[in-house]
Amino acid sequence: MSDKPLVAVTRVIPQAGMDLVNEHFDVRLWEDELPPSPEELAKLLHGAVGALTLLTDTIDGEVLDREPQLRVVSNFAVGYDNVDVPAATERGVIVCNTPGVLTETTAEFAFALLMAAARRIVEGVDYVRAGKWQTWGPTLLMGQDVGGATLGIVGFGRIGQALAKMASGFDMKILAYDTYKNEEAASEAGATYVELDELLHQSDFVSLHVALTEETHHLIGADELKAMKSTAVLINAARGPVVDTDALVAALKDGEIFAAALDVTEPEPLPADHPLVSLPNAIVVPHIASASVSTRNKMAALAANNLVAGLNGDRPEGLVNSDVFDRARRQGVSAKWL
Ligand code: GLV
Repeated sequence: MSDKPLVAVTRVIPQAGMDLVNEHFDVRLWEDELPPSPEELAKLLHGAVGALTLLTDTIDGEVLDREPQLRVVSNFAVGYDNVDVPAATERGVIVCNTPGVLTETTAEFAFALLMAAARRIVEGVDYVRAGKWQTWGPTLLMGQDVGGATLGIVGFGRIGQALAKMASGFDMKILAYDTYKNEEAASEAGATYVELDELLHQSDFVSLHVALTEETHHLIGADELKAMKSTAVLINAARGPVVDTDALVAALKDGEIFAAALDVTEPEPLPADHPLVSLPNAIVVPHIASASVSTRNKMAALAANNLVAGLNGDRPEGLVNSDVFDRARRQGVSAKWL
């Protein structure tokens, strides 16, 4: 029997992270490509003091109550809407995420989606693959210009700001909407804060970068899509439920907006026979905005380091609920499993 603390790892992550967890812990690993069911997750977590989780694992109060010895949940993602953070905080469980390391990679993917939808790249590829290319066509697959256009960024945190900086290379005018205003970041990125309604009316491209919360659930619905220009493109590399999918399908079918490019959907995965998959003016990819080799390695190392730090009583770099850590420090009861 190992004398190392037991942790659950809910999927095989890049080597940098696997090496770290194997070095420090007795690891119970879920090796399948598909996520564990809630029952399988419960078994995997049983007796573990830490868990390295994915955004497909639901960690709520019920899960935490079944495993009161669980001290740290380290999510392999910057988003953590799969974890009930208030429930974790209430139970003294540290929650961690992987901010920073995926900022540029995710922003550049959002920009790639923007370009692909604006210039109809996927439709062009499909056209050639289908053997339809007969001649140079004066009106063939005409798209929208990106240079000099107005980009509305909804959610002006790290990723939104990085996107603004990239877009400034295309002389885009940047509008930003966020409930929290960081004037310094906005002026550095050349962005102007406006209300959501104004952003939707003015923008040629609307890119979503908010966390999924009760407030942002279906933030973009039928009314918001109607407010957008008929030539506008919607990009979502945040979380699927930020957009009302049925309203989006209707808006794309009726030509209320020009196109949508989605890294994330509701539901996820999107079934192959879903209307969004076959609509010519929709691009759907399988939640891969942070999927570069280098970034996924960094995320794995950070998620593993967060787990090590949390179980060693140190402040994890990607600490979400600092309340728990600070409270434990004040009471002189910091966790020490290593
Ligand atoms: C991916 O969606 C993430 O939140 O890191």
